[in-house]
Amino acid sequence: MATERTLTIIKPDAVAAGHVGDIIKMFEANRFAIVAARLVNLSKKEAEGFYAVHRGKPFFESLTKFMSSGRALVMVLEGENAIARLREVMGATNPAHAAPGTVRKLYATSIERNAVHGSDGPETAAFEIGYFFPDVEPV
Ligand code: CMP
Repeated sequence: MATERTLTIIKPDAVAAGHVGDIIKMFEANRFAIVAARLVNLSKKEAEGFYAVHRGKPFFESLTKFMSSGRALVMVLEGENAIARLREVMGATNPAHAAPGTVRKLYATSIERNAVHGSDGPETAAFEIGYFFPDVEPV
């Protein structure tokens, strides 16, 4: 299995609720190494650029407003099969469907305010890592 890098964001809801330490603990317990990290307060424009693939969807305006509403912790995580594995650790986008013990089951409060983001594939991971960390290799 290949070592991969993926981008995760601990979103403004989880940062404001004080779950950063618990979520990082879950990532580390699942053998993800943090290779880069930035605490950001995104502008609306930065959030729109990051989620450009969702432009035009009914939730785009609300999502980008939420993502620019407070501090968020953006990280590059590295590990075996990191992209798919992180998505398992995060759980389903909608916390109502997330499996027990996943980050979203524990900390998300709605499909929008769902505590964490993780890249959904290798190309997305390369774009997302480059968006926040232009000096970090995506591999
Ligand atoms: P994320 O994994 O960051 O990818 C896109 C985000 O859009 C998603 O998590 C949610 O925060 C949000 N999202 C996706 N689908 C919906 C939806 N149907 N309604 C509201 N927000 C959504």
